[in-house]
Amino acid sequence: MNVYDSGRMAETLASLGYRSVPEPEGADMVILNTCHIRDRAAEKVFSQLGRLRLLQQARAEAGGRMVLAVAGCVAQAEGAEILARAPYVDIVLGPQTYHRLPEMVVRASRAAGAVIATDFPAEDKFDHLPQVSTPPGVTAFLTIQEGCDKFCSFCVVPYTRGAESSRPVAAVVAEARHLVALGAREVTLLGQNVNAWHGVGPDGQPAGLAALLRALADIPGLLRLRYTTSHPRDMDAALIAAHRELPALMPYLHLPVQSGSDRILAAMNRRHTVAEYLETVARLRTARPDIAFSSDFIVGHPGETEADFELTLDLVRAVGFAQAYSFKYSLRPGTPAAAAPGQVDEAEKDRRLQVLQALLARQQAAFNAGAAGLDVPVLFTHPGRRPGQIGGRTPWLQPVHVDGPLQHIGSVLPVTILAGNPNSLTGRLHPQQPEQICA
Ligand code: 5AD
Ligand code: SF4
Repeated sequence: MNVYDSGRMAETLASLGYRSVPEPEGADMVILNTCHIRDRAAEKVFSQLGRLRLLQQARAEAGGRMVLAVAGCVAQAEGAEILARAPYVDIVLGPQTYHRLPEMVVRASRAAGAVIATDFPAEDKFDHLPQVSTPPGVTAFLTIQEGCDKFCSFCVVPYTRGAESSRPVAAVVAEARHLVALGAREVTLLGQNVNAWHGVGPDGQPAGLAALLRALADIPGLLRLRYTTSHPRDMDAALIAAHRELPALMPYLHLPVQSGSDRILAAMNRRHTVAEYLETVARLRTARPDIAFSSDFIVGHPGETEADFELTLDLVRAVGFAQAYSFKYSLRPGTPAAAAPGQVDEAEKDRRLQVLQALLARQQAAFNAGAAGLDVPVLFTHPGRRPGQIGGRTPWLQPVHVDGPLQHIGSVLPVTILAGNPNSLTGRLHPQQPEQICA
């Protein structure tokens, strides 16, 4: 979502004559868009700020000025604290105030002293942001939902991104159409709790994500749809049915489970059990037999014993993931888990993470190896590293490289997979026949 947000911020600033440059050196303004999800991400902000300060000073010595802004969830969570630690920062703005950026830049340029906006404004930033104007490339992100009301014990999102809110159907469909007009062929719908999205359907009745996906699947030229990140609790029957019924909806789902122990899931306030998660996975597999899963895991949540951790390994073995992200529990001040008893030793967290990641890596390698010999539709997205090569993705999000012409970028074409390596696939294009172009 920060990638999407950064793009929207850059476009907001076009009204003041700014344009994006590839390097911070010599820039008139640098915005650091930050993540607060784990301690390491948050700490990185301050080391980056130290580096940017040197550039800011060099610019001042050359008689210029570099405006330095901190955006994102660290800005939201730490606010004025950032200015205490880094008084050379000019602007601090939380994720819900990006539409105010031009005004803040003008104020920061005129006056001495920093400008801060970390409130949750009554107005919706999406109503005030300009329409996307930069071509997104073949694959585009589109935020449809923000915030979270789930309050998992370990997580800062409900505090930094605020309460759950959904963008209206018409706004989402209009933005998706516009992205397709700019060249996108795949749209990934984004939300911290994307399948909690809710709106009003064309019939005036409440509509969930399934209805929104149906509306988007009708857009000509939009070949592939994805959504992330889902909560297992919000995987309702209509959404599962959408996986059966919509060919554009890719058979790959990121469905974080966090732990395979019911005791820890309860401590995490996840509000589902292992059995319920497995049941959802089974229903999705029945609806779409080729669906593959990705997930998030946390090891070492307060109270997690070796036996709980073993149950997580059991769950991983039971599901078989195509890909996954796994993290050591990171204490986030202000969250319930921060004050919980039974904090797990750092070395023990390290050990559990290593064991889990080894298992997940084996599953990912097996999933990719299993693609060898298959014919799969690949959406080509970019030139390859070698001349004459192009790269794309399978429906299961595996990166693929083939020898082929650049004109195929933006098309879905059948590819025979020659080798499935742990992190990517190599393949061969079928001899070209226009009618083979498929979704
Ligand atoms: N410590 C470690 N991992 C966390 N996540 C969220 N909060 C924490 C935390 N305090 C992970 C979860 C979530 C992903 C986005 O980040 O696995 O799904
Ligand atoms: Fe955080 Fe996701 Fe839980 Fe919401 S559902 S509190 S975003 S981990």
